[in-house]
Amino acid sequence: MVIFPQTHIIETQNMRLKDKVALITGGANGIGLATTERFAKEGAKIIMWDLSDKGVEVAERLKREGCDIIFRKVSVTNEDEVNAAVAEARTHFGRIDILINNAGITKDRTLLKMSRQEWDDVIAVNLTGVFICTQAVAPIMKEQNYGRIVSASSNVAIRGNFGQTNYVATKSAIIGMTKVWAMELGKYNITANCIAPGFITTAMTDLMPEEVRQASLPSIPLGRWGAPEDIANGYLYLASDEASFVSGICLTIDGGAAR
Ligand SMILES: NC(=O)c1ccc[n+]([C@@H]2O[C@H](COP(=O)([O-])OP(=O)(O)OC[C@H]3O[C@@H](n4cnc5c(N)ncnc54)[C@H](O)[C@@H]3O)[C@@H](O)[C@H]2O)c1
Repeated sequence: MVIFPQTHIIETQNMRLKDKVALITGGANGIGLATTERFAKEGAKIIMWDLSDKGVEVAERLKREGCDIIFRKVSVTNEDEVNAAVAEARTHFGRIDILINNAGITKDRTLLKMSRQEWDDVIAVNLTGVFICTQAVAPIMKEQNYGRIVSASSNVAIRGNFGQTNYVATKSAIIGMTKVWAMELGKYNITANCIAPGFITTAMTDLMPEEVRQASLPSIPLGRWGAPEDIANGYLYLASDEASFVSGICLTIDGGAAR
């Protein structure tokens, strides 16, 4: 027998994550911050992890606005910190419905100049960090027979990008891992998807020289860079019950730039 999930139109329109518990990594800045704020507005209870102290102020503000939110300074690269924080979050909220693997870094250098350290650092956060967090949370999702995993890839995983051997390797791997997780975890009612953002205005892209930003514009049919909220909207869709039959995809949100 096929059981279709019940949808409540008014509730869905008003609060798309009502009472869902969402863990957002790298949630204190940029795309992660826009996602934390959006998820809070949509009724989610939130576990936010970041290395940045800005998380304290963000959590205090959202608490004042009525959100049940825990901020912890956790590095996604540290298995012990991740496991302890997952256990704490589970004790506090009783469940974890949504994992947004958003934390990421760049250390750009052309292949001929990239150091082993620059390679390792980016692999540790963008790839191993996603593996560690997902492996820590998936057993809880399996037990509750419900889960939404959404990870940050990039449109450079599809296009390639000059000077980003390390970063592109991780973002391509996210697409592959997502497909594997969709296959392995589907039977537990867990979906796994990723998003491939294009150029989005955040601290990460503030590092880019102005002439490089300008040079990117002709390749974007919509003629502009995206805002963090453009990606938060994608995370929201894939984390919501509206996407309950969507799994294993990479949703490109880049103004039409991907080739
Ligand atoms: N901005 C873009 O144009 C763009 C494009 C494609 C993909 N992305 C991806 O989207 C995600 C968010 O990017 P952003 O532009 O908002 O970046 P950002 O630099 O503005 O924010 C990233 C956040 O992750 C946190 N972080 C870094 N290392 C961490 C760690 N080890 N543990 C926990 N938190 C850590 C940082 O402190 C920061 O708050 C990243 O995965 C990035 O690769 C961004």
